[in-house]
Amino acid sequence: MLIAAASSTSSGVSNTTVLMLKIPLTLPTDDTAVVLTLSGMSAMRDTREFLSLAYGGPEREKRMRGIVLLLLIALVVTACGGGTASGSASNGEKIFNQDTIGSDAGCHTCHSVEPGVNIVGPSLAGMASDAAGDAEERGVTTEEMLRIMITDPNDEVVEGFPPYTMPQDFGTQLSEDQLNDVIAYLMTLK
Ligand code: HEC
Repeated sequence: MLIAAASSTSSGVSNTTVLMLKIPLTLPTDDTAVVLTLSGMSAMRDTREFLSLAYGGPEREKRMRGIVLLLLIALVVTACGGGTASGSASNGEKIFNQDTIGSDAGCHTCHSVEPGVNIVGPSLAGMASDAAGDAEERGVTTEEMLRIMITDPNDEVVEGFPPYTMPQDFGTQLSEDQLNDVIAYLMTLK
């Protein structure tokens, strides 16, 4: 059902406000409208005219298309879950220990997960706790922080280590699922 609130102005349609509180999945052929606020017969007439123009008139098809598009966008946003990591840590560990990832060197060739063992890059022991601290400062989740560290290593370069050494393109060399898996694995390194 569509719920409409109409303002009562003499200028009519252009000043009429319609509040759509619920978007129906399928619009009924003869739209039902509940007019919440009306003052006077002229407003009533304006509203009727507006509603018939908006929902029954030539604008109807355009409007329907708009609504369908909005619903699709909402579905896509929900499906992507805003990039929340929900990967498999065990699969992530396997990816971490691959010698290569696409055209890049694999993580373990540069990173140990033993405390204090630095190879080309710093040890990632305790990485989940470190990332949690950084995440809090930035107001993002720990998973999002790890994603930034992996896909945009120069965003913050670890002190004592050179920039542009960690491959800059893991965001494209790893699939979205693989990236989530690696993040899930790093989340276990507390
Ligand atoms: C060629 C070497 C190399 C490879 C391969 C590599 N890294 Fe790195 N990584 C580095 C270096 C060097 C740094 C420190 C400098 C910086 O921050 O960019 C670093 C930093 C990091 C950090 C931030 C550490 C911290 O304490 O803030 C994370 C997390 C990380 N790498 C994860 C990964 C993961 C996951 C992979 C595999 C997908 C990977 N790295 C592959 C070299 C590498």
